[in-house]
Amino acid sequence: MVASTFFLVSLFALALGNPLSRRTMQLHESRDEVPEGFVQQGAAPSDTMLKMRIALTQNNIGGLQEALMDVSTPSSALYGQHLSKEEVEAFVTPSAETVQAVNAWLSENSISATTISPAGDWLAFEIPVSKANELLDADFTVFQHTETGDQSIRTLSYSVPSDLTSHIELVHPTITFPNPFAHLPVVVSPGPAKGAVKPSNLSSDAVPASCATTITPTCVQDLYGIPTTKATESSNQLGVSGFIEQFANQQDLKTFLTNLRPDLPSTTVFTLQTLDGGSNPQTNSEAGIEADLDTQYTVGIATGVPVVFISVGERFQDGALEGFLDIINFLLGESNPPHVLTTSYGQNENTISRALANQLCNAYAQLGARGTSILFSSGDGGVAGSQTTRCTTFLSTFPSGCPFMTSVGATTGVPETSASFSSGGFSNFFGTASYQTSAVSGYLATLGNTNSGKFNRSGRAFPDVAAIGDNVEIVFQQESGLVAGTSCSSPIFASIISLINDKLVAAGKSPLGFLNPFLYSTAASTFTDITTGNNPGCNTNGFPATAGWDPVTGLGTPNFAALAAAAGV
Ligand SMILES: *[C@@H]1O[C@H](CO)[C@@H](O)[C@H](O)[C@H]1NC(C)=O
Ligand SMILES: *[C@@H]1O[C@H](CO)[C@@H](O)[C@H](O)[C@H]1NC(C)=O
Repeated sequence: MVASTFFLVSLFALALGNPLSRRTMQLHESRDEVPEGFVQQGAAPSDTMLKMRIALTQNNIGGLQEALMDVSTPSSALYGQHLSKEEVEAFVTPSAETVQAVNAWLSENSISATTISPAGDWLAFEIPVSKANELLDADFTVFQHTETGDQSIRTLSYSVPSDLTSHIELVHPTITFPNPFAHLPVVVSPGPAKGAVKPSNLSSDAVPASCATTITPTCVQDLYGIPTTKATESSNQLGVSGFIEQFANQQDLKTFLTNLRPDLPSTTVFTLQTLDGGSNPQTNSEAGIEADLDTQYTVGIATGVPVVFISVGERFQDGALEGFLDIINFLLGESNPPHVLTTSYGQNENTISRALANQLCNAYAQLGARGTSILFSSGDGGVAGSQTTRCTTFLSTFPSGCPFMTSVGATTGVPETSASFSSGGFSNFFGTASYQTSAVSGYLATLGNTNSGKFNRSGRAFPDVAAIGDNVEIVFQQESGLVAGTSCSSPIFASIISLINDKLVAAGKSPLGFLNPFLYSTAASTFTDITTGNNPGCNTNGFPATAGWDPVTGLGTPNFAALAAAAGV
């Protein structure tokens, strides 16, 4: 009897595992149309392997966001009391029920997943297209980007079992499309820079006349009053993100420092961290223009601050977005992550699923709660988004639309005016952030009906701040040249924050962490307001820069002494 009962139970279990006894499925995410620039090529080959990821529902992300605002808002009693790794994970770790329910579904389908985040909220596994179509009621298709020819396998909709919808945030890659263009700085003048500033007058506060045409570290220091004295705190790391096989070259840095920061030892280097199989080969021809720019304008501006270049490997079908997640989860796994992280990559918000944008944004909230300031360049296409593109309504960029990071726009010239390429605008995914409501409503009132219907008045508005981003001299593959882009602005602003953190840490205080509540309150009056220029795109003049915050240059450009004083050092 016992044996036969056991036999029956086994048969029953087997029946459950049979794909024919399917669970009831429910549509989880879909997109109405293929993003601009992509065309459908036909069904994906059924045996192509897909690297899938599942985001599990976090147990209390609202609590984490509240804790982030508490430790980042100067008027809060908890200001500066950043959370430990364990405290963050307590908010983010999915419930045991969620983990069990999702894993049971996967094992029914003979899939065993690995956990890929410290809090256990992300799972990964690899399955062929045929199985992914069946598992998710999906229609994985090859899409080609018409301009670049790049192909990616995506589906325009997918479902999950209806009893799991509350346990699963999203499955990726599905309806999110990759960034067809690397977001890289534009080369203004590839040859040797003409009339570069000779840094013979470092002690002068006046901005040399040559800064009108060529921006060097000396110009940046003079513009913003940045000290040239060495930082002292070795724990105060500044992280520089590297993606898409952009490699940072130490020899280029050495030549840059020799030419433009002769007061610094030319042996000053950045250190390296890698993940996802990333590397940083040092052959001259493999140096990347973005990586060189980002390391030269951190090491060369944040004098004495330990800079770490974090090279994320490209082992995905998807360009940088998985890397965007992995670098944050990698740093969340560290007991002492860098106090500042600068990233000069991004893509248009409309290519990303709302759920994935939300999940990445919440990852920034986690690292911010740990005390890291996260800065991104805002994009180089004006109101057309990350690059100049055809558009009828304005395109906002990701992650600049996320409220839990700091978006940096660009200026040009001396005296500074808005750079016309500086992306700025309003997110369609995230609402106006609480810290910016008064700054943004002031702007909207001034704007009146201009660009009405072309942007979302209730969205999170960006950029938050700006820094010089045009005619910036770098050394690339041993040649001096000039580059332009918000890619220049983010490392410069990040360096200023790192130097202020150095003073804070030296004084036994907390680093600034998530910046925006501080920037829009205590620090708002310290910025040099940029009130001229605009950011054209989509057959419009874009937004005008005005007195006060605007979606071209944010609050304005920094004044080191005033910003440091607002921070209490
Ligand atoms: C440095 O700059 C100041 C102010 O512009 C100027 O008066 C002085 O002559 C300069 N010194 C040198 C050595 O160029
Ligand atoms: C505008 O922004 C709000 C707030 O984030 C959002 O809920 C809404 O869906 C957006 N509208 C459109 C048309 O995308």
